[in-house]
Amino acid sequence: MNERIVTNHPLEEDQFETSIRPDSIDEYIGQQEVKENLNIFMQAAKMRGESLDHVLLYGPPGLGKTTLAYIIANEMGVNIKTASGPSIEKSGDLAAILSTLEPGDVLFIDEIHRMPRFIEEILYPAMEDFTLDIIVGSDSSTRNIKIDLPPFTLVGATTRAGDLTSPLRDRFGIVSKLQFYTVEELTEIVKRTSRVLNCEIDENAAIELASRSRGTPRIANRLLKRVRDFALVLGDGNITLDITNLALDKLKVDKLGLDDTDYHLLKAIIEKFNGGPVGIEAIASSIGEEQSTIEDVYEPYLLQIGFLKRTSRGRVVTEKAYEHLKIHKQGTLF
Ligand SMILES: Nc1ncnc2c1ncn2[C@@H]1O[C@H](COP(=O)(O)OP(=O)(O)OP(=O)(O)O)[C@@H](O)[C@H]1O
Ligand SMILES: [Mg+2]
Repeated sequence: MNERIVTNHPLEEDQFETSIRPDSIDEYIGQQEVKENLNIFMQAAKMRGESLDHVLLYGPPGLGKTTLAYIIANEMGVNIKTASGPSIEKSGDLAAILSTLEPGDVLFIDEIHRMPRFIEEILYPAMEDFTLDIIVGSDSSTRNIKIDLPPFTLVGATTRAGDLTSPLRDRFGIVSKLQFYTVEELTEIVKRTSRVLNCEIDENAAIELASRSRGTPRIANRLLKRVRDFALVLGDGNITLDITNLALDKLKVDKLGLDDTDYHLLKAIIEKFNGGPVGIEAIASSIGEEQSTIEDVYEPYLLQIGFLKRTSRGRVVTEKAYEHLKIHKQGTLF
């Protein structure tokens, strides 16, 4: 599959992300409710001299989960240790990470829904009582050992909260869902990033970029970087509205941030299934994609902007999408 410029998954070129990542909660734009709550919990933990309760962050890729995990550690003035769910394969892997923690530290586990079940079970007592119960030895000579851990904060991130087992989910005191960003918020993010990258951008250009970024900071930043190249080569380096429109049209990102993949998906449902309702399995096989890719990557934004609807009988393409695609809906007057 061709790499989509508007994919919300990180691409090779997003390496620069760490340098443009905000590192304090004040610089973190949007997600007002999540920020306000976290601020209270962090302050309270500091006042009590305790570690922050475990935090679960969930929501589509590129909305700022990892960024927020680093900010939490920063604001709490502690170290952050990172791991990802699938990389913890043996109980020893988990024990190795946990044993490096100092009091109050943040342990960030990305893609926590992909952690093996037996690892999850070792994590329960670690989260609840800060103890590690592990079995050492083999066959006849196994024994249990219990290791005390310092109090720490587990920050888990997942794009699929539904895939988390309920015993794991229940052990997080703070559960925050990140939302797609508004155009106004993304405009602020675009302006902030251009300041960090030291390039000039006109207000209307920033708004245009923001409105084509699918509610997602990662996409906004990536598009900004590409548009900056066009501005440098075709203009004087300043990002104007004209340059922005030209660049994004060339990159085949439409006014709403949709690309060929979105058109392909919507058209498949319209042409092969008369606009739906149609089951996700049927859509997946008709466009030759994994069901999970459609659910995690393609669909959330189309649902968000009201181009797709999820019904009990399957997905339906809405009137609004027909209009945007300039396709006449069969059986209607238009
Ligand atoms: N609230 C924000 N304010 C400013 N920039 C942000 C914000 N949220 C995210 N970003 C920018 O978007 C980039 C992507 O965010 P991040 O890596 O935290 O997303 P994520 O939710 O962890 O994605 P994934 O699910 O793929 O791990 C960051 O490098 C950061 O520059
Ligand atoms: Mg992340």
